[in-house]
Amino acid sequence: MQFKLTEEHEMIRKMVRDFAQNEVAPTAAERDEEERFDREIFDKMAELGLTGIPWPEEYGGIGSDYLAYCIAIEELSRVCASTGVTLSAHTSLAGWPIYKFGSEEQKQKYLRPMAQGEKIGAYGLTEPSSGSDAGGMRTTAKLVGDEYIINGSKIFITNGGIADTYVVFALTDPESKQKGTSAFIIESDFPGFSVGKKEKKLGIRSSPTTEIIFDECRVPKANLLGKEGEGFKIAMMTLDGGRNGIAAQAVGIAQGALDAAVNYAKERVQFGKPISAQQGIGFKLADMATGVEASRLLTYQAAWLESVGLPYGKESAMSKLFAGDTAMKVTTEAVQVFGGYGYTKDYPVERYMRDAKITQIYEGTQEIQKLVISRMVTK
Ligand code: CAA
Repeated sequence: MQFKLTEEHEMIRKMVRDFAQNEVAPTAAERDEEERFDREIFDKMAELGLTGIPWPEEYGGIGSDYLAYCIAIEELSRVCASTGVTLSAHTSLAGWPIYKFGSEEQKQKYLRPMAQGEKIGAYGLTEPSSGSDAGGMRTTAKLVGDEYIINGSKIFITNGGIADTYVVFALTDPESKQKGTSAFIIESDFPGFSVGKKEKKLGIRSSPTTEIIFDECRVPKANLLGKEGEGFKIAMMTLDGGRNGIAAQAVGIAQGALDAAVNYAKERVQFGKPISAQQGIGFKLADMATGVEASRLLTYQAAWLESVGLPYGKESAMSKLFAGDTAMKVTTEAVQVFGGYGYTKDYPVERYMRDAKITQIYEGTQEIQKLVISRMVTK
């Protein structure tokens, strides 16, 4: 087994780390406070090629792999988890299904401008009454002439309102539930499409999360993604990879909190010596560092499996489960290391703790990851 990253991976890590430190970190707290998405940051990511890391050059990408993509999400999330998830939803939730299931025409029309960062992508699966039970959706798509007429709504949409291209799932045959679900590529200016309520959130506050509404929304037949009835499978396969992007986000959040805790513990003197040299805190830092490293290895493994074309669904659910729980533990401990200061907005660890919580919830709750893993190991 070989654990060394390639030169290309190391180069991408360095480039994203510099970018994150210089361009993303300085405004992270302010954007969190103001719940403000910054398009300029996205545009700068596009200039660096980050908006199309795993896609081939013929589709506007930089032709790298899923491991490089995870490293980028990790490095961004190390300073700003909101920026991490903006790129993650754009790439693995919207770009991936178009890359895998789109026709050549759809890839040129939709994936290319997304990969080049001219357009932002989003994914619409969850509905008010179907969250974990994704097969219980109610949004319908009826073929009338050359168009599908879509009615319904989707909630908790990452990049809602800022996205131009939405990959959305709807029932073309409501009786058949999962087998009657189809996927569509929907442009934000299609008639009948609108953006609804914007959520006020605990964390990832500079990443907009909204409702999207379809009121007799007219979608050209050519925007069916894959075949009719393939939608549920497309949604699930998309989440298989997406979950590893969230694991990478969790690794980044945990690493950021660990770095802050280590630096603080070395400087903070109590009882005549730095608190890092006192076992109560030293052992905490050891547990935190071990958790981060284990999470990173699981995440890189799943990314590597996907990059070389091996099955990765189980490993991706495992990485999200483990890294998400680790991020929550590590960030909570980081606040503890900072004591009273950690509870204030003078330091970034309270933000890391708030941001970590969502990694246990979105792209399938931890309980859903356990369901997926248990089904795979008992199959
Ligand atoms: N790959 C390929 N096919 C799959 C699959 C996968 N990973 N998972 C399921 N399928 C197929 C099954 O094989 C089955 O097909 P057949 O009948 O032909 O065999 C079909 O899909 C139905 O599968 P299940 O019977 O397993 O379906 P289920 O109703 O029991 O649901 C579930 C399974 C895993 C619980 C699923 O509902 C699920 O993943 N729920 C969580 C949803 C989720 O993660 N939502 C997050 C949304 S995105 C988000 O968070 C917002 C954001 O923007 C970040």
